[in-house]
Amino acid sequence: EFRINIAIDGPAGAGKSTVARMVASKLSYVYVDTGAMYRAVTWDMLNQGIEAEDVTGVLERMKAIDIELVPGEDGQRVTLSGYDVTDEIRSLAVNRTVSRYAQIEGLRAELSAAQRQMALRKGVVMDGRDIGTTVLPDAEVKIFMTATVEERARRRFRELPESGEVITLQQLEREIAERDELDRSREVSPLMCADDASVLDTTNMTINEVADEIVRLADREI
Ligand code: C5P
Repeated sequence: EFRINIAIDGPAGAGKSTVARMVASKLSYVYVDTGAMYRAVTWDMLNQGIEAEDVTGVLERMKAIDIELVPGEDGQRVTLSGYDVTDEIRSLAVNRTVSRYAQIEGLRAELSAAQRQMALRKGVVMDGRDIGTTVLPDAEVKIFMTATVEERARRRFRELPESGEVITLQQLEREIAERDELDRSREVSPLMCADDASVLDTTNMTINEVADEIVRLADREI
């Protein structure tokens, strides 16, 4: 059976992970959430009190941690040196700092290498910011998913973890816009649409419509 890789990039809250999971399930492919890897590293650094400005400290700490994406019953679990951090990495503290750690070149090089490794045998749906441009430039299908910042904030608002953390819709919108700006303007593999990516503006599309469209594009390659 011929298998391909599918790269899905785009700004925060565009619905990439939900759609990527659905597409992977429809094709019996493996879903790889690269944002979860950046989040797990960030969570660990916050725990250790290592700031993003301390590049040497961050890279030194990277040697001691081991991130794994483990398929679980209720979706993918994320473990950090064997400890399950799936819920912890969705906290507002991580949201607010992850883009600063994600600017560090050596950190990106390590995570990108691990991501490429996961896609070697094909049959992967990978979502992130730099998958079509840097991690898997040869992916057979590349999607750039967007939606207005208002719509993205609404989507994120609806799926906020019920952890008791309080944030208003306006504040969430502002934080998403700030994170996008940092991701777009960083020097190393910024958030960018690959030249050969299909752009999907999902503002007025349902999750199912988006997933069906991606499966249709994939079917042309398989
Ligand atoms: O996708 P998610 O919102 O979980 O990603 C969290 C953050 O991780 C992004 O805002 C970005 O700073 C970083 N990231 C990245 N490259 C990726 C995936 C995520 O820089 N491929």
